[in-house]
Amino acid sequence: MSYDTESEASKSYTLAWIAALLLLVGFVAGLLIFPPLYEAPKAEASDMVIFFGRFHPILLHLPIGSLIFLAMLEVLCMGRRGEAKHGSTALLALFVGAAGSVLAVIAGIMLSREGGYAGGNFSLHQTMGIIGTAGVLLALVIRLMAMGQGNWELLHAYRALFFLSFGIMSLGAHFGGNMSHGSKFMTEKAPEPIKSQMIAMEKWMLSFVEKPKPEKTEGNAPAAPKAPEPPKLVETPLTPTPPSTPTPAAGEKLVFANLIQPIFAAKCNKCHGEEKQKGDLRLDTFEFTMAGGAESAEKKNNVVPGKPADSLSYQLVISAEDEDMHMPPEGKDQMTKEEISIFKWWIEQGASATQKLDIAALPADLQAAASAISK
Ligand code: HEC
Repeated sequence: MSYDTESEASKSYTLAWIAALLLLVGFVAGLLIFPPLYEAPKAEASDMVIFFGRFHPILLHLPIGSLIFLAMLEVLCMGRRGEAKHGSTALLALFVGAAGSVLAVIAGIMLSREGGYAGGNFSLHQTMGIIGTAGVLLALVIRLMAMGQGNWELLHAYRALFFLSFGIMSLGAHFGGNMSHGSKFMTEKAPEPIKSQMIAMEKWMLSFVEKPKPEKTEGNAPAAPKAPEPPKLVETPLTPTPPSTPTPAAGEKLVFANLIQPIFAAKCNKCHGEEKQKGDLRLDTFEFTMAGGAESAEKKNNVVPGKPADSLSYQLVISAEDEDMHMPPEGKDQMTKEEISIFKWWIEQGASATQKLDIAALPADLQAAASAISK
C-alpha cells in the first residue's frame, strides 16, 4: 500500500472537525453546568449527579491508556515517514484520549459534589486535570489544522503542546491517586535517593494551593522515622494522663502514635484524614480523634477514655458489617480482629496520647500483631 502525502494533505477531515468541535462544546458546557469548586459544595447534589460522578474512577482509565499510547506514537510521528504511516492512528488516539479526558473531568467534578473533598491534593488534581484536558483539546484542534494543511511546523507545535498537556495531566492524575491511595502511596516504597526528591517536588507543588498549616503533617521529615505526636494534652482534658507528660526520648514508641495511628491510617484515613472528612470526622491526629465528627463532636463520644462500649468509633467498628453505619463501610478494607482488640485495649487503658508502648503490657494474643504494626 503506497501512501500519498499530497492527497493526505488535501483531505478535509470534516467528520473529525465536527467531532472535535462537539467535544470542545461538551467540555465547556460541562464546566459551565458543573463549575469546579474548591470548597465544600453548598447545596446537596442529586443522586443522579453522584451516580454519574462515581464513574470517574472508571472513566479516567480511558485517557490514561490512549494518551500513553499516543505519546509513544508521537515519537514515531516525529519523522515524515512515521507521520505519513501513523498520523491518522495518532489522530484517532488523540481523539479518544481527549474524549476520555473530558468525560473524566466532568465526572470528577460531579463526584466532588458528594462533599468531603478538600485539601491540596484535591485542588491540584482538579486544576491540573482541567488544564491538561483543555491543552489536549487545543492540541487536537491544532493537529487537525496541521494535517488538513499538511503543515509540518504546525505539527511540531501540536506535539509540543500535547506533551506539555500530557505532563500536566499526568501530574494532576498523581495527586488524584494520592487522594484515593493516601499521600504516601507513590513515595513510601521509593528508593531512598529519589524518595526525597519526589517528596520535595510534591511539597513544592502543594505549597501553591495549601494554606500553611500550624500543625505538622506527615511527609515533613522524609528521612526521620515518623515522629510521635508531641504531647498536646493541655487542650484535651478528656485524657486522664497528666498534662505535663514529658516528650518521650528519641526512639521511644507510644501506643497512640505507633499502634493506633498506623491502624487508622491504613483503615480509616482515606475517608477521615487530611483529604476527606466523611461524617466531618478526622482520625489523623490525636486531637481530631478526640474531637469527633458530625454526631460525636457534641457528645464527645468518638472515643471515651476507659469506655470502649461508649466510644462511637469502636461501636461502629464492631457493629455487623452490613449495618448502615458500620466502619469501615461494607466492602472496604476492614480492621482485623487483632486491630479491633488493640483499639479496644487502647481505649480501656485511657485513650492516652502519651502512653508509652510496651508490647509486653498488651494481652498475650495481641503482642505479635502489635509488634508488626509498630515496627
Ligand atoms: C470508605 C470511606 C470510609 C472509611 C474507610 C471509614 N469511614 Fe467512617 N465514615 C464514612 C462515611 C461516609 C461516614 C458518614 C456516614 C454518615 O454520616 O452516614 C463515616 C462516619 C464515621 C463516624 C461517625 C462520625 C460522627 O461523629 O458522626 C465514625 C465514628 C467513623 N466513621 C469511624 C471510622 C473508623 C474508626 C474507621 C476506620 C476503622 C472508618 N470510619 C473508616 C466513611 C468511611
